[in-house]
Amino acid sequence: MKLISETVRGFRNIENAEFYPSTAVTVVCGENGQGKTNLLESIFLLTGAKSFRHVKDRELPDKDGDGRAEIDSVFFAEGRRQEIRLSVGSKGRTASLNRGSEKKASELAGKFCCVIFSPEHLDLVKGTPAERRRFIDTALCQLSAGYLSKLRDYMRLLAQKNALLKDARNISAAYDMLDVYDERMADAAAYITAYRRRFAAEVEEEAREAYSSVSGNRETFGINYLSTAGDDDDPSEIARMISSARGDDIRLGYSTVGPHRDDLELLLDGDPARVYGSQGQQRTAVLALKLAEAGLFRNKLGEEPVLLLDDVLSELDGSRQEFLLRRLGGSQAIITCCDPNFIERETDADVWRMDSGVLTRAGD
Ligand SMILES: Nc1ncnc2c1ncn2[C@@H]1O[C@H](COP(=O)(O)OP(=O)(O)O)[C@@H](O)[C@H]1O
Ligand SMILES: [Mg+2]
Repeated sequence: MKLISETVRGFRNIENAEFYPSTAVTVVCGENGQGKTNLLESIFLLTGAKSFRHVKDRELPDKDGDGRAEIDSVFFAEGRRQEIRLSVGSKGRTASLNRGSEKKASELAGKFCCVIFSPEHLDLVKGTPAERRRFIDTALCQLSAGYLSKLRDYMRLLAQKNALLKDARNISAAYDMLDVYDERMADAAAYITAYRRRFAAEVEEEAREAYSSVSGNRETFGINYLSTAGDDDDPSEIARMISSARGDDIRLGYSTVGPHRDDLELLLDGDPARVYGSQGQQRTAVLALKLAEAGLFRNKLGEEPVLLLDDVLSELDGSRQEFLLRRLGGSQAIITCCDPNFIERETDADVWRMDSGVLTRAGD
């Protein structure tokens, strides 16, 4: 899929911008704090997912504006020209696809897909389990509206259950309620865990290949999905695991078992990369994971996702930069950076500039 054009109004510091990216590589350059990531964020929102910066929808419109941001786009997918109009503000995100009726933006899942690669991802191996869960969920929520809605249900139930667990004074009265929550959460948990496990296996296959290409076959990359609720995806078994943690949950005041506590273990020759990998190996692992994510979209959708590379090239060494650029293949890539010279040398990219939220095509 390719983004053909995008008009952004009242989004963060971008008052009004029109963007016509190349179908191959486009570089958006500019000093720090000018709005480059904001532009990528506005494109990412067209996937229907929440911002990759993990902020509330109401924080996205221009803080000095009317409280709403509008993003209009034309893109090419499933062999035809399509349109998404998105509106973001204090009432959340709504969207219309191909001039259809206004819907919740989350219903866009699977229509326009992006892989975002930003400097925070470089710490994925060493980072917290929450960051690795987010890596999985960012991809799965784009690919499956069903997954997104189950994950939402689960998180809503979890928040209610945690509120009960915190209220220790009334805990004995809450026992029956906790039973009800455990049972309802187990169904959603089983669905989420099974999906994630399958995703981990597919990513592993793709990433292993990418890892050995970057590293020259030195180590074998692997992924292990670590479930706090055991290895069985049967809801009644998961319910049993969740309930058996009741004592700990009450003592700690929050729920300790379920997909919200799971992790993705990244392995090199069978050992945890977090503990034993060098910084170079960890970066190669992240690069492999991101390329695998793109590969998975390709397999599932039958087309290439749009790649958004936010200021990551300057963080990678020469050989990894070259590898990444070579791997872009026929995908559309939108790359932000401070100094476009390197990418201009390596590719025949279109170059745009962002200055204080004003976007211009270089040379105009
Ligand atoms: N809701 C908002 N309203 C107005 N300006 C915002 C908003 N959120 C962020 N900004 C501004 O956006 C700029 C940062 O943009 P960003 O895209 O992160 O820069 P960079 O070019 O470094 O990627 C800052 O000047 C910040 O003040
Ligand atoms: Mg930035």
